[in-house]
Amino acid sequence: MDNVLSRRSVLRGAVVLGGTAAAGPLLWQQPGYAATPPHGLHLTYGADPGSEMVVSWSTPESVSRPRLLLGDAGGSLSEVVAAESRPSPGLKTVQHHARLSGLDPNTSYSYQAVHDGAASERFGFSTARTGRPVRFTAFGDQGTSGGKVGPVLDAIERFQPDLHLHVGDLSYASGAGGLRVSEQIDSLYHPSVWETWLTDIERVAARVPWMPVLGNHEMEPTASDLGYESYFARFTPPATGVAHEAGATTWSMRVGNVGFVALDGNDASAEIPRNHGYLGGDQERWLDATLAELRADEYIDWIVAGFHHCAYCSSVRHGSDAGVRDRWTPLFDRYAVDVVINGHNHMYERTHPVRAGQVTTEAPKNAVIYPAEHGTTYLVSGLAEEDESLPDRSTGPVSGVTYYTGTDFGLRVPEATPWSAVVDELAPVVICVEASPPNWAGTTRMEIRSVDAATNTVVDALTLVRNR
Ligand SMILES: [Fe+2]
Ligand SMILES: [Fe+2]
Repeated sequence: MDNVLSRRSVLRGAVVLGGTAAAGPLLWQQPGYAATPPHGLHLTYGADPGSEMVVSWSTPESVSRPRLLLGDAGGSLSEVVAAESRPSPGLKTVQHHARLSGLDPNTSYSYQAVHDGAASERFGFSTARTGRPVRFTAFGDQGTSGGKVGPVLDAIERFQPDLHLHVGDLSYASGAGGLRVSEQIDSLYHPSVWETWLTDIERVAARVPWMPVLGNHEMEPTASDLGYESYFARFTPPATGVAHEAGATTWSMRVGNVGFVALDGNDASAEIPRNHGYLGGDQERWLDATLAELRADEYIDWIVAGFHHCAYCSSVRHGSDAGVRDRWTPLFDRYAVDVVINGHNHMYERTHPVRAGQVTTEAPKNAVIYPAEHGTTYLVSGLAEEDESLPDRSTGPVSGVTYYTGTDFGLRVPEATPWSAVVDELAPVVICVEASPPNWAGTTRMEIRSVDAATNTVVDALTLVRNR
């Protein structure tokens, strides 16, 4: 922030309260409001990652004047941005969101979340950079359990990504994961798990934009048909997707030369159809238009799509979902989407590149492929523990694809899995990706390294090359 006056003038939409801001903890307290510091701080890029960021956090109850203090990295926090507060289904907890706009690209900022009587520790973030490699990490199916939380956060910190793409099944506050059997849903719903999860991820998510995608466990037994209130209480994704009263259930954004597209698999899933078809075909129309726009953009080389249910996965548990496969992979083929990242199955898997359902070339670990020629690579990383014994793959196909039947239960059909290239069924795998800007000859590379977070070893590696 070179010039406070110029930046103050471009903090459009922010409410500048002025006068009371201070860089240290605030010492006054008003009776009747929580003095507990803000917790669960997490960032989300806005529609323009070079100039917009949302900072979100949680307090145990209502607080007076929730707001964000913002300033240059290491400098005084001279800007004050009022936060919008939202209730949390099933809890007294309140969620706060400060929307920042008019930020300078390629710039580091410091911030604190405060309310009258308490302040968070000081964190920092950087706005998106252009002309430099874009780094992101990805996985799904996180939850709060056991020893995986620390190692996967450590793995993200080691890689120092620009953003983390979380492909759904975030906290597992809803253990039933969108099943319709109401007694089961009610007994397995523990909304306080969201607060544990936010506290867990804060040390990374308060510094690295934590870009969320809806999974089946985000369909909760809350008031609406969709059940997304807990998700939208805590997240403000970019409003760049299909317009819907529930919020931004889909989104897209550009970071450097990478276009990201996030889809709502619950609208398409054949296996868990609670929200099946709620977007009425708008998601496919939006996806078609968005992919066309990204492919026509001279500054975009790479397109990455993230959604929860798997187009291709050989797991014996959920396997593949014909809903997402049949509705979306023809569009991925048409626009040569480079990489698709899914979760849902609690394992790691990568396919050979696929087009029209067929493997176009073998791509074992350390292969180099050309997606404009070879088609789309599909990856799965679901961190959560698998509770079923692993199948014996030596005896042939063990997986299947589930088709929509119009009932609560899809029809699962066994299938061979010639597209399966690399599998790791046990490790908590963090997918680490770096996309380079084009060199003098117009060649750009995307390096994928999938890392076992528990041992910090590379379980899979793939290089993708594109020529402008
Ligand atoms: Fe899951
Ligand atoms: Fe799932």
